[in-house]
Amino acid sequence: MRIILLGVPGAGKGTQAEFISNRLGIPALSTGNMLRAAVKAETPLGLQVKDLLAAGELVSDDIILNIIKERLAEPDCNPGYILDGVPRTVAQAEGLEALEVEVDTCLFFDIPDQAVIDRLSGRRSCPECQAVHHITANPPQTEGICDVCSTALVQRPDDTTDTVGRRLEVFREQTAPLIDFYTAKGILKVVPSEGTVEEVTARVFDVLEA
Ligand code: AP5
Repeated sequence: MRIILLGVPGAGKGTQAEFISNRLGIPALSTGNMLRAAVKAETPLGLQVKDLLAAGELVSDDIILNIIKERLAEPDCNPGYILDGVPRTVAQAEGLEALEVEVDTCLFFDIPDQAVIDRLSGRRSCPECQAVHHITANPPQTEGICDVCSTALVQRPDDTTDTVGRRLEVFREQTAPLIDFYTAKGILKVVPSEGTVEEVTARVFDVLEA
């Protein structure tokens, strides 16, 4: 299974990527997580992209294609992979095709903007292992502490109200054309993404197993 997860910020891509990864035994590759790790480690890449991430703008297609190409070359990707947050432009989708990256299914997480604004304002992320929690929908066992690695949870700098608005605009302008791109290829499947995490997970597997 080679799966792309497409959807506005906060649609639940990262949350569902973890369930799919666990159930299918294939890795979830999140370009957002890779970029945030580079920012945290203050690598040359991290320093280059830090302000773009904080402002909710996209990183260049060349950078993204390079990091995903390197990651896909690792042996754990041989049985399949989940691409979470990539491609994000038609140029990236075409770049993946040029790299002969195979895709079987593109899951489009369909959700109204207002629902994701509520989700993102309550998201708390682990700066160490990148696990995602939510203050009400998916609270950690101990308030403010990551369930996975016990690090103090933080609010992502791009989860502020202004930046969330810009990220939604960027999705409409630069990423939404991928809905038509993958529909034309006959591999787009829509997952209605309101409702609880468990309800959305059930829909994901209904769609994948149909
Ligand atoms: P990235 O990290 O990919 O962010 P995003 O696409 O904006 O997605 P999010 O992580 O915000 O949301 P999500 O859909 O994963 O939702 P989640 O599961 O966390 O990218 C960040 C930045 O990196 C970009 O802005 C850009 O600068 C750069 N970048 C990355 N990839 C790039 C690319 N390919 N090209 C160029 N630039 C790139 O859920 C959100 C919250 O809701 C959580 O708190 C969760 O617990 C909660 N939740 C989830 N599901 C439910 C539910 N059903 N009910 C209630 N709450 C729920």
